[in-house]
Amino acid sequence: MEVIKTDKALGAEIIDIDLSKNVSKAEQKFIFDAYTDNLVLLFKGQSLSFDDLLRLREIFGAAGLTANQLLGLGRKKYYPDEVPDDITIISNIIEEGGRPRGSLGNGEAFWHTDSSFTEVPISASLLHAIEVSEVGGETSFLNMYQAYDDLPERLRVIVSGRYANHSKVHSSDGSLRPEYDEPTNPATCPGIKHPMIRVHPTTGRKCLYLGRRLNSYIIGLGLDESEEVLDELWAHTCQDKYVWEHKWEVGDILVWDNRCTMHHRNAFPSEARRLMHKSITAGEAIIAG
Ligand SMILES: [Fe+2]
Repeated sequence: MEVIKTDKALGAEIIDIDLSKNVSKAEQKFIFDAYTDNLVLLFKGQSLSFDDLLRLREIFGAAGLTANQLLGLGRKKYYPDEVPDDITIISNIIEEGGRPRGSLGNGEAFWHTDSSFTEVPISASLLHAIEVSEVGGETSFLNMYQAYDDLPERLRVIVSGRYANHSKVHSSDGSLRPEYDEPTNPATCPGIKHPMIRVHPTTGRKCLYLGRRLNSYIIGLGLDESEEVLDELWAHTCQDKYVWEHKWEVGDILVWDNRCTMHHRNAFPSEARRLMHKSITAGEAIIAG
């Protein structure tokens, strides 16, 4: 195995490993260390069953729950029986009879970190490309350690020790979850409070933890001030110098650490077919930074 770093702020490809075969303890440690150092890992040319994808996640952490499970909504009703409870299907494909194959459609998924709407958000996300669109659908990642390290002093003072409310009302593509009403005020939006700066449990490094912009609210500030600070903070964070973008090919697997990264998906044509299988690992109580 070899680690080939991108020339961007994060991300590395690991070559010369077949993840469908048994991965030795030494190989697991090599992969985990590369994940810790690079925040996002790419493996190409893989062909994993659902069970393989659930086994692979064990390198990165304990078994985690899907977004639907974390929201207490259970298993997606339209999943066929062969999809294990812990697997999420991300797809725009509509089967005959109108049954969706998965979630998230073909639209843009705005910058976010997975499952920050829960008390103990997940740590790793593993996404395996089964079908990809020729145009669009790229996933980008953002290094939240660097966004924190470079934070202008004035903003650092404002967010230090502060908590933000992370809304649970919308999906990452901005669509309203059917179980909730459209919120009228971010300050009262159903959600979970998290520190705006968190300490990564493995590296001990501080990073910004923003979740998603839609209906975010900084606890203790007036709504106008909260909006102003968040706009500034997001403009600082979403700079190209912190980003690596990946163009998917069939067989790719990306593994990213939601504690210290955010991700974004470009829209793709609705007539294209895109199918991804996802597994996740459980996180741990957030350490405020
Ligand atoms: Fe996501």
